Amino acid sequence: MGRVALVTGGTRGIGAAISLALKAAGHRVAVTYAGNDEAAARFRAESGIAVYKWSVADYEACAAGAKRVEAELGPIEILVNNAGITRDAPFHRMTREQWDEVIRTNLDGLFNMTHPIWPGMRERKFGRIVNISSINGQKGQFGQVNYSASKAGDLGFTKALAQEGAKFGITVNAVCPGYIETDMVRAVDPKIVAEKIVPQIPVGRLGTAEEIARCVLFLVSEEAGFITGSTISANGGMYMI
Ligand code: CAA
Repeated sequence: MGRVALVTGGTRGIGAAISLALKAAGHRVAVTYAGNDEAAARFRAESGIAVYKWSVADYEACAAGAKRVEAELGPIEILVNNAGITRDAPFHRMTREQWDEVIRTNLDGLFNMTHPIWPGMRERKFGRIVNISSINGQKGQFGQVNYSASKAGDLGFTKALAQEGAKFGITVNAVCPGYIETDMVRAVDPKIVAEKIVPQIPVGRLGTAEEIARCVLFLVSEEAGFITGSTISANGGMYMI
C-alpha cells in the first residue's frame, strides 16, 4: 500500500538510499535537506522525488515544512528522522558550538520534526516512525562525546514515544547503523578508518546505505505493526547488543 513518507536529510547517503527504497516500494516520498543545494538538485533530477529545504534544528521551519508537504502530498504516515551531523573532537578540545550544533540537529531535530506530525498520526490511528541513531550512541566513540550523547538520546526518545504511540497504531523504532560508506565516514581521516575502524568490524568491510534502507523498509511495513520501541543494529558485528 502506498503511503506518504517524509525522510529528513534524504538527498545524500543513508537518507537517499532510504528515500529511493521507499519510492520503489510504492510510497509517495518527500525528502528534506538543509545545506547542500547541488546534491539536492541532482537527487531531485535523478529520482523525481520531491525535495524541500529546511533545517530540522528549527522547530518553526519543521512545522511549516510538514504543513506544506501534507498540503502537496497528503497526510504524512511514515516519518524517517535521518538528518544528522558530526562535529568530532576530543572532549578537551570540543567547543560549546560543536556540542550545540550536534545536539540541535541530531536530538532536538527528532522533537522538532515529530511533534508537528504526531497529532495527525494519533487522529488517523496509524503511523510509522523510524529514527536513525548510530552504533556510537550505543557504545560511545572517542572524539564523539556530542554525537554519542545525541544518538543515545535518540534511543531514549524512541522507547518513550513508542509507549505513547502504541494504542494509536503508531510504531516508533530505531536503526543503529555501524560504519557505512557515506560522506560522513569519508570525512574521517582514511588512516583512522583503515587502521582503527575497519579492523573492528567482524564482516571486514564498511556497510552500504542500501543495507540500512532495507532495515527501514521492514520497520515501516504493514506487517511490522507488533514491533515498536525496538532497535535494529546493522553494524557488521562491530557491537552486539
Ligand atoms: N581510543 C583511544 N585513543 C584514541 C582513539 C581511540 N578510539 N582515537 C584516537 N586516540 C588517541 C590517539 O592515539 C592520540 O593519542 P596520542 O596523542 O597519545 O598519540 C590522541 O587520541 C589524539 O588522536 P588524534 O591524533 O586522532 O587527534 P585529532 O585531534 O587529530 O583527531 C578526532 C581527533 C577528530 C576525534 C579523530 O581521532 C577522529 O576522527 N576519530 C574518529 C572519530 C569517529 O569514529 N567518528 C565517526 C564518524 S562517522 C559517524 O559518526 C557515523 C556513525 O554513526 C558511525
